[in-house]
Amino acid sequence: MDNNKPIGIFDSGIGGTSIWNAIHHLLPNEKTIYLADSRNAPYGQKSKAEIIALCIKNTDYLLQMDCKLIVVACNTATTNAIKELREKYKIPFIGIEPAIKPAALSSKTKVIGILATQGTLTSDLFNKTAEKFQTIKIIEQVGHGLVQLIEAGDINSPEMDELLHSYLQPMITAGIDYLVLGCSHYPYLIPQIQKILPDHIHIIDSGEAVARQTQNLLKKEVGFTNQIASKNLFYTNTNPKVLKEIVGNKHDVFEKNF
Ligand code: DGL
Repeated sequence: MDNNKPIGIFDSGIGGTSIWNAIHHLLPNEKTIYLADSRNAPYGQKSKAEIIALCIKNTDYLLQMDCKLIVVACNTATTNAIKELREKYKIPFIGIEPAIKPAALSSKTKVIGILATQGTLTSDLFNKTAEKFQTIKIIEQVGHGLVQLIEAGDINSPEMDELLHSYLQPMITAGIDYLVLGCSHYPYLIPQIQKILPDHIHIIDSGEAVARQTQNLLKKEVGFTNQIASKNLFYTNTNPKVLKEIVGNKHDVFEKNF
């Protein structure tokens, strides 16, 4: 089964490029179109209704470009809107959620930490998953301010370091042995996080799992491209400077009004 249409990927901003990286690494021939809705970032403090409306806007834009499936590369958007998206559209959607399960199943201390947005941590989908692990203590922390600093390109700033220390120290004290990154922006903070966490604490993010799910869906339902060269387009609705720095010169980045 062949399908040469592009895969659509969207996030509230540049964070979902961490998911794009994993997808592109696993499926290098697939064409992709990435939407960074940075003008509306962060989604994490918006209401469920606002998040759903933004997801519909992004989906409509990707469908105009004839995408064959859509990856919601944002935990906040997935946990608040994927059900509504799947009900509204015929196209298949893949979402990303905090990887509570692998962390809970591997934890020896039975204490795990989740760093995510307020929108994700208060969502029904997140709380339903968390409830399944009654024997595990889950320390939830909202990453206030982290997405804004990443969007501004201030990843290595003293302010970032200070915020991360204040969010992670209580988790270390509580005895976590797994830290789940529940926001697609946060993988860009792994080097700083590793400096703060003791070596025995593992960091988990969902990028590779989403890429494998994408591969499975292409195999079973949608079809792989039969073309050899991939074409990857990146669209943002704000100044493209930080997105360009992140994706490098190899790919095209455009500023569009969506
Ligand atoms: N990257 C997003 C996530 O995975 C959302 C960050 C935000 O816009 O608040 O949750």
